[in-house]
Amino acid sequence: QKYGPVFRDKIGPLSYVFVYKPEDVAKVFQAEGKYPARGPTLPWLIYRKQRKKAKGLLLAEGKEWRKFRSVTDKKLLKVKDVSAYSDRINNVITDFFIHLDKKRQDDNIDGEVRDLKDSLYKWSFETINTILYNRKLGTFEDPPNPIAEKFYRSVCSMFDKSNDIISLPPYYKYIKTKRWNDYCKIWDTMFETAEQLVDEEYQNLQQSITEDSRKSFDLRRSEEIEFLPYVLLRSELNKDEIVGNIMDLMIGGVDTSANTMLWTLYILGKHPDIQEKLYQEIRSVLKKGEYPDSLSVQKMPYLRGLLKESERMYPIAIATVRILDKDTVLGGYQVPAKTKIFVGYHMMSFDESFHDEPTKIKPERWIRSSSQHRFNPFSHTAFSFGPRMCVGRRIAELEMQLLLARVI
Ligand code: HEM
Repeated sequence: QKYGPVFRDKIGPLSYVFVYKPEDVAKVFQAEGKYPARGPTLPWLIYRKQRKKAKGLLLAEGKEWRKFRSVTDKKLLKVKDVSAYSDRINNVITDFFIHLDKKRQDDNIDGEVRDLKDSLYKWSFETINTILYNRKLGTFEDPPNPIAEKFYRSVCSMFDKSNDIISLPPYYKYIKTKRWNDYCKIWDTMFETAEQLVDEEYQNLQQSITEDSRKSFDLRRSEEIEFLPYVLLRSELNKDEIVGNIMDLMIGGVDTSANTMLWTLYILGKHPDIQEKLYQEIRSVLKKGEYPDSLSVQKMPYLRGLLKESERMYPIAIATVRILDKDTVLGGYQVPAKTKIFVGYHMMSFDESFHDEPTKIKPERWIRSSSQHRFNPFSHTAFSFGPRMCVGRRIAELEMQLLLARVI
């Protein structure tokens, strides 16, 4: 409001041009080219350089990034492939409910759960891992599997500590302080566990697949093959690159879906009327005791609208960044090539010219037939746009839809 829809400012040590108008956002994405560049999260990148670990989707750029996406997109963004995960996602939800029931008893605070966020982080951690490794890691077991628990705790600490380190000048490129070494140890644990899991799968595959049966796999029917075997059989990524990518998928898939669910449950707690409408919609689609799947949630527009409202009001990623390789005019200003452009979705979500009564939660605004919405496709998206948009989008949507349908 103070500086208008285009301005330059700093976040920590880094300087950005901020854009907040859908017309400018559209221009940025139109100019991003074949290899969209976002710029790295520095502490993550420096750790990998220092320890000689491969990058994954979050950190790679240019042709390397394109190669990673061409393998992962097929398995993670194709509707058929993602639909095939419904049963295992439902299994994790069942474990999550059993865990919550026990926690409610243990916590003993009038049926409430202390630290629901932690339980939701476990839910998203188990869900993404059940897709990546085709097995439950065991954080919901009682007692939890110690390796899974250590892995999970490391992921949570990595998020916490990264937030602190990101805002500092990158001294750790040159000086290894105790703080930096402790941070690296957290990553070491994560990498060791991921490497071990990929190795086990690799060995299983080598034992079970002969040269003849390898030829009989039709990789075009990818929905019939598990994620890791698919990636291994395509043979485009070496083992280090597979681990680097699995790591990035896991990092991308934990705090995002968990926090979005946390906010959605908060909205439901505050709005019993929305809760009731949602309940009626779910009851009209599912019989008592029936589990939702990827097809039944398609018949629940109010549920999908609620998730979109939650993403609009309380976005997990308030922005993304693009670095264009040519000069571009944004909001009447010449922005030189290589400038970091901060595409701010969050501000647009509250702009009255795109969303009626933007401070109100209205799931129905996303239902096409009932919408008076002056919707501009670039005025809201939780998952970003273009070839570099969130690769986990379909998985995130499905896991959140299934969880919400079952919670209600
Ligand atoms: C509510 C849930 C989620 C939200 C809101 C979200 C949002 C985003 C956004 C905004 C980006 C940046 C895209 C860009 O720069 O254009 C992104 C990238 C990414 N997300 Fe998600 N995400 C979610 C869930 C997930 C899940 C479940 C996974 C794992 C399966 C995942 C993995 C990734 C990865 C690996 C990237 C980097 C993609 C690339 O650079 O090619 N995300 N996500």
